[in-house]
Amino acid sequence: MIQGERDRFSSKFGVIAAAAGSAIGLGNIWRFPYVVGENGGGAFLLIYLFFIAAIGIPVMMSEFVIGRSAQLNPVGAFKKIAPGKRWHLIGLLGVVSAFIILAFYTVVAGWTLEYLVQSVKWMLFSDKIGFESMSPEQVGSFFSEHYASFVDGVWRPLIWFVLMMFFTGYIVISGVKNGIEKYAKILMPVLLLLLLVLVFRSLTLEGAREGLIFLFKPDFSTIKEAPLKVVIEALGQAFFSLSIGMGTLITYGSYIRRQENLANTAVSVAAADTFIAIVAGLAIFPAVFAFGINPGSGPELVYITLPVIFQSMSGGLIWALMFFLLLCFAALTSTISVLEVIVAYFSEQLNMTRKRATILAMLSVGLLGIICTFSSDFFSVFNASPDLMLPLGGFFIVVFVGWFLSGDKTRDELSSGGRHRISYYRLFVFLVKFVAPLAIALLFGLGVYSRLISLFPSLA
Ligand code: TRP
Repeated sequence: MIQGERDRFSSKFGVIAAAAGSAIGLGNIWRFPYVVGENGGGAFLLIYLFFIAAIGIPVMMSEFVIGRSAQLNPVGAFKKIAPGKRWHLIGLLGVVSAFIILAFYTVVAGWTLEYLVQSVKWMLFSDKIGFESMSPEQVGSFFSEHYASFVDGVWRPLIWFVLMMFFTGYIVISGVKNGIEKYAKILMPVLLLLLLVLVFRSLTLEGAREGLIFLFKPDFSTIKEAPLKVVIEALGQAFFSLSIGMGTLITYGSYIRRQENLANTAVSVAAADTFIAIVAGLAIFPAVFAFGINPGSGPELVYITLPVIFQSMSGGLIWALMFFLLLCFAALTSTISVLEVIVAYFSEQLNMTRKRATILAMLSVGLLGIICTFSSDFFSVFNASPDLMLPLGGFFIVVFVGWFLSGDKTRDELSSGGRHRISYYRLFVFLVKFVAPLAIALLFGLGVYSRLISLFPSLA
């Protein structure tokens, strides 16, 4: 095992920026709006928020506690804290999840490059294409078609995927986060500003109100049809969006300095992540309703709605260009955090150099990603897998911290050796011992059951 000096985040803000950089990404801007749209809006949002607070934050704190106390990757961390036990299998489960998530996520990240390039093209040939003089309906159908022919095609998604993979690997090889931390601090706030501009445009569209009602007014009759699916997808999305349940934040936790307040960090990251998701929803849904787009469109929702918003803005193409550029960057700060899990595992547990570990990881993820670009079925299965895999990982993580790790150790980590007050401690213990494990176990069981039923209806 290599035990040299480990990289460290240089400041408190650096930690939050990096962890928020991991959390904030396509999960907020692409996945969140379409999952909300498919699951009926406000009622889903309410359940989602509850899961973030009652399960997400405790899981995140638990990951930080494990990572920082062990100073190792997820597999090594469990081996060190619980030697001779099988807990390290959780770490391995995380590494497997990392492969799957990275594969489909990088494919979607590649789509931002397609839209980036298209924006430039429209800008250059705008008189020929007539983007700005099209009606919203025309733009909408234009993009629906473009999206479909692009995603169904073979080469373009593949090329963009490979390019994104390459960027990700390059950043991970060329040393830890320093560079990224620096850019994330500037670019994430810019992304937020751009989103706010979009929100403003979207909210001032005629018919925007409908969208607000859809997003914020919980109407539980919308989830009556398939309550199980809704609840499970809310849990899965909460895990996915916070980057928890697979050891990313165990790995990042191992880079956090001893004096940093873990609870504070977790709450700030979760708040920032949730805020951005809601802002993305505020940008998308008013426009969806104003332009008569189907909120249940699925993964294409954002990719067909955004262009219509841009078209309705003056200088829309420039906005589009900036937006997709920043979205691409936001995706990168997430992909590197997923790749980091695999690389930390390969290099620390299997004794590879960082470079070799990265290349090996990229090649294997590359293979999976290529399959995702070729087959939409494969893509959908991968895209749905976090809903079960991440909660499963999260279950073991909270059980480990709640029932296995000694209370002294947990208190010591959370308080940084007595430096911080931990008046929330009993609530935390209650959540990680009982609430989170029971809720996840129940939902996971029901989720597996419902998927089996949909595969083999005769079981019902
Ligand atoms: N949370 C990121 C997003 O919302 C995606 C992501 C990064 C992730 N690292 C992760 C998801 C680890 C699950 C686990 O875009």
